[in-house]
Amino acid sequence: MKYLCLVLFWFRGCFGLGLWETIFGPALGDGIDIQKMVMNFGYKLTEHEVVSETGNILVLHKIRAKRKNLRNGSYTPSVLIQHGLLGASDNWFLRGPDKDLPYLLSDAGYDVWLGNMRGNVYSRRHTTLNPDSSSSYWNFALHEIAYYDLPATIDYILDKSGQESLFFMGHSIGSTIALILCSLRPEYNKKILLHLALAPIAYVAHKPNLYHKFVFASFPFVEQSVQSKNIHEVFPRRKYFSRFIEYFCQDGTYFQKLCLMFIFNFVGEDYEQFNATLIPDFAKYYPAGTSLNMATNLYQMYTTGLFSAMDFGNKTLNMLHYQSDTPPSYNLSNVQHPITLYYSDGDYLVTKDDIDILADKLPNVKDKFKIPYQTFNHLDFMWAINSKKLLYDQLLLLLNKYVES
Ligand SMILES: *[C@@H]1O[C@H](CO)[C@@H](O)[C@H](O)[C@H]1NC(C)=O
Ligand SMILES: *[C@@H]1O[C@H](CO)[C@@H](O)[C@H](O)[C@H]1NC(C)=O
Ligand SMILES: *[C@@H]1O[C@H](CO)[C@@H](O)[C@H](O)[C@H]1NC(C)=O
Ligand SMILES: *[C@@H]1O[C@H](CO)[C@@H](O)[C@H](O)[C@H]1NC(C)=O
Repeated sequence: MKYLCLVLFWFRGCFGLGLWETIFGPALGDGIDIQKMVMNFGYKLTEHEVVSETGNILVLHKIRAKRKNLRNGSYTPSVLIQHGLLGASDNWFLRGPDKDLPYLLSDAGYDVWLGNMRGNVYSRRHTTLNPDSSSSYWNFALHEIAYYDLPATIDYILDKSGQESLFFMGHSIGSTIALILCSLRPEYNKKILLHLALAPIAYVAHKPNLYHKFVFASFPFVEQSVQSKNIHEVFPRRKYFSRFIEYFCQDGTYFQKLCLMFIFNFVGEDYEQFNATLIPDFAKYYPAGTSLNMATNLYQMYTTGLFSAMDFGNKTLNMLHYQSDTPPSYNLSNVQHPITLYYSDGDYLVTKDDIDILADKLPNVKDKFKIPYQTFNHLDFMWAINSKKLLYDQLLLLLNKYVES
């Protein structure tokens, strides 16, 4: 019955409202109160606003254990966690204490901050531009986030903490933006005490699997069709999209296997570490929205294997954005802050070869850490059932060692 409703809804929408609205519908606002959720787990979450040089209003979340678990001495370093592609800060809070990274870090006495990239559900605001009507608002990709937003975020946290540097932890493109920032504005190197790079996307030169090949081959057509409809925002957090995933992928449905196949083909196959029961929960929070340019940016990185800014395919536009005909390649010899790289054999999006290329170009790699689990995939860095045992315990150990030394 519920499938029939969905199908009917789909068609009504197709004819009446256009495919886009059908699939995504109104924003998913109800039922998402991240502050309350975190408070119910016994922690305190506060929201902070940062305005970057370009007028983008960014939301930062800060989490603290209710019971102050201060370290000995007064030094409590800040940790900034940056989400990956199509994510948001709240993706890291869903499973609760003893499972998710922010709780573990705050239990260990750290001052934990989580960023939100411009264009996602929290940071979809601007001092002068209206994201709903202005295409200029969406004219950004990794370059702009890295050059304008990340430094504003880091400076805000350092200003609040009164310290000179922080720990930076980035997942996927969350790590990429710190690399870009420090390559373009090397003065930020000294503000990063240590960078924990979880499956960073920089040089992605590995051979794509069949599924990725298909996605890349169809991307130009999809891009053009989306562009021609004057749509600049992609995969926003939407009510019906979330319901759709919930109905089709929840426990006990016929289609769950198909959902899993779909996810795993993209990020890596790991039936053991992915809790499929949680798909409906995950789908409420993911995806959280970005720009079409960001998708183009990544498509170009994956198909060229180069670590460079988005190519507008138009000299005038490139000149306008980068003051050169061609998009800049990022010079990693400027990235002098200490970095520990984390990768996994089961990750289809970032492979060991990609990490080796990156490590070769970075002047200050402290360590390369392979997750000791063969099928650990790109998403597992955030949501693996055993992420604590396989990864987070190690991250904590490393941070503690840095603090004590
Ligand atoms: C703080 O230091 C005291 C004395 O050195 C020690 O007994 C205590 O276990 C320490 N507490 C923490 C949380 O490290
Ligand atoms: C998966 O998530 C459900 C719902 O939260 C939970 O009851 C179950 O214990 C989880 N499974 C594993 C293996 O952690
Ligand atoms: C490049 O973009 C500019 C500005 O949008 C446009 O006027 C121009 O025609 C474009 N050039 C080409 C070769 O597409
Ligand atoms: C990268 O930067 C370093 C140091 O600033 C410089 O010596 C080197 O020539 C640059 N490499 C390229 C390819 O621009």
